[in-house]
Amino acid sequence: METVICNPESFVRAEVLRLVPYEAKHMPECIKLDANENPFPWPAGMREELFSAKLMFNRYPDGMAQDLKTAIATYTKISTEGILVGNGSDELIQLILLTFGGLGKAVIIHPPTFGMYQISAHLTDTSVIEVPLLNGLDLDTEQILKAALSPDAQVVIICNPNNPTGTQFPREEILQLVRESGKIIVVDEAYAEFSEETLIPEIENYPNLVILRTFSKSFGMAGLRLGYLLGQAETIALINRVRPPFNVNLFSQKAGILALGYLSEYQEQIQCIKAETQKLYEELTRVPDVVVYPTTTNFILFKPGDPDRWAAELLKRGFLVRNMGALPILGKCLRISAGLPEENDSFMRAIREISLDTTVAQGITGTASV
Ligand SMILES: Cc1ncc(COP(=O)(O)O)c(C=O)c1O
Repeated sequence: METVICNPESFVRAEVLRLVPYEAKHMPECIKLDANENPFPWPAGMREELFSAKLMFNRYPDGMAQDLKTAIATYTKISTEGILVGNGSDELIQLILLTFGGLGKAVIIHPPTFGMYQISAHLTDTSVIEVPLLNGLDLDTEQILKAALSPDAQVVIICNPNNPTGTQFPREEILQLVRESGKIIVVDEAYAEFSEETLIPEIENYPNLVILRTFSKSFGMAGLRLGYLLGQAETIALINRVRPPFNVNLFSQKAGILALGYLSEYQEQIQCIKAETQKLYEELTRVPDVVVYPTTTNFILFKPGDPDRWAAELLKRGFLVRNMGALPILGKCLRISAGLPEENDSFMRAIREISLDTTVAQGITGTASV
């Protein structure tokens, strides 16, 4: 038989060919301020407990993750039937759109916001309706409600607080969407432990409210990939239909259970990260020619005169920051997350240096305005 030459690309779904994969830089030699992680090590007792636990890695994990759900239930005060765990909240975003999106359906998002919503929409053949934030920062509730009138629109994703802006949207506006849109409202609360605001207590009132949480940020487990969804039991049961049976590995399940037993240690870390973020914010506002956006999270969005040059200069000095490129309305910006206190101190020295170089290069002698 003659061998038939076959080009795999000719079999690929058109949507996949159009996809631009999410690129996260991996540069462990740098001081990492680019991914909104918790820079502190895990609480010592938790580390010890985890590494001495006898885990049967030759067996499949509990596919329903009952013990982890029980721990999350105690933490969130939502019953275990209202919880679904995932391999990071990235997986859960995809499961939501696999359940409620698809060909001929649409998800409403508010750019600038977290990039994975768009990627998951493309992956699941779901169209995207964009309702940009007013001035690049505020929720346009009226326009979202108008967009939700489209029969195609199934899901609205609100990122609260929003990544990358750091903005906290008013609770009442989100609840208005929950009440009036007639659609599934997903509130991504990845940074809620920092902003200390949540809509979890509202879940019992609304079957169309789904809340997304992660262990990646405040709990410092980005490397373990662990997130969870909260909603009414019937809503969660629908999403559970598309979940792969063993989506969360045994080690991550155990780590999640243990972490929720060390809340006071994590609380100390969170308060320190918040104070450090405030310190970085104040320092950045003192730098001439830099616009800094207020934040309720562990990261800060800011706009220096020449963001690309700043990112390159910071990298030369060993700091990896997130170059956001051109955001809708806000334009080119950088985003940093709070590192360890000593890392933040050297970061602040670096930005003073870079800004001084800029000032000298521009021949500016007086104080520049923002
Ligand atoms: C708003 C938001 N949601 C979800 C995620 C993804 O979290 P996970 O690590 O749980 O997939 C991130 C990560 O940056 C995020 O910023």
